Amino acid sequence: MKEKLKNIKEQALAALSAADADIEALRIKYLGKKGELTAVLRGMGALSAEERPVIGQLANDVRAAIEEKITNRAAELKAAAQDMKLAAEKVDVTVPGKEPRRGHLHPLTKAQRELEDIFIGMGFEIVEGPEVELDYYNFQALNIPPEHPARDTQDTFYITDNILLRSQTSPVQVRTMEKKHPPIRIISPGRVYRSDAVDATHSPLFHQLEGLVVDKNITMGDLKGTLELFAKRMFGEDTKIRFRPHHFPFTEPSAEVDVSCFKCGGKGCRFCKGEGWIEILGAGMVHPNVLRGCDIDPEVYSGFAFGLGIERIVLLKHHIDDMRLLYENDVRFIKQF
Ligand code: DAH
Repeated sequence: MKEKLKNIKEQALAALSAADADIEALRIKYLGKKGELTAVLRGMGALSAEERPVIGQLANDVRAAIEEKITNRAAELKAAAQDMKLAAEKVDVTVPGKEPRRGHLHPLTKAQRELEDIFIGMGFEIVEGPEVELDYYNFQALNIPPEHPARDTQDTFYITDNILLRSQTSPVQVRTMEKKHPPIRIISPGRVYRSDAVDATHSPLFHQLEGLVVDKNITMGDLKGTLELFAKRMFGEDTKIRFRPHHFPFTEPSAEVDVSCFKCGGKGCRFCKGEGWIEILGAGMVHPNVLRGCDIDPEVYSGFAFGLGIERIVLLKHHIDDMRLLYENDVRFIKQF
């Protein structure tokens, strides 16, 4: 029996040393209920009273030795597996990182922010107005009664007879003057709508920026000074501006404002079509009817207003010849700016 136990021990230890998985199967094979050691112990009944404790002790030693070996080998295998995993998942922290592709703001958004910065620098406040607007604010309060021909050039989308998508940012002038007493110095950027078919220079949705200043003693000189400073900031310090008489129902007098061509400096080139000047906005002195409609006395207060198309500025600045490119959002195009 001693011999048998010795063999079991040797075999078990050897098998465990060689095992690289499935230790549990070996435990069952040697120590399980139907295992080899158990089979030997079952035969102990046949032993003499002197032999029994000796063999019993020996059997316990063998069991202990096998158990210890199982524990050790399991730990060894676990450590080896861990080492392998660590080696496989090793990270080289010295490898240079992958630079994530960074997006940037859309050229229209950038232009809007640039415009805002310029006017904030001159003490203007930014206000917003609704895109879904009442006929009253978009037209009537701006001195454009029903049937006025100016409505033709600003045909827009109607929700009802009275409610429409604003065709200009000018209604924000009225909304501001209704709420706030002079001094007023605001700009209002935002989306506007017109029922125009899409082509290289038209879109049913585009962006404008409105400006309004109302106070005592505001003159056309203030308008000119403000727009000149704006033009220099936006198009370069050498930029000049010029006013051409025009008509807008809500300003009197009204003007269209040009900047000297920032490509040729005013000499005339292909970009300015030989003119030397490029039209950028409409402006004028706020019409007394508009002031009165907002309960502001035109005998006491005066003001100037201006409105520009943000798309137009972007197209001019970046020499883009088709407005549709701004809306298609082809990243290959957009990322150039
Ligand atoms: N709202 C005008 C338009 O969309 C632009 C404009 C012209 C705005 C003169 C003004 C202004 O404030 O004074 O055509």
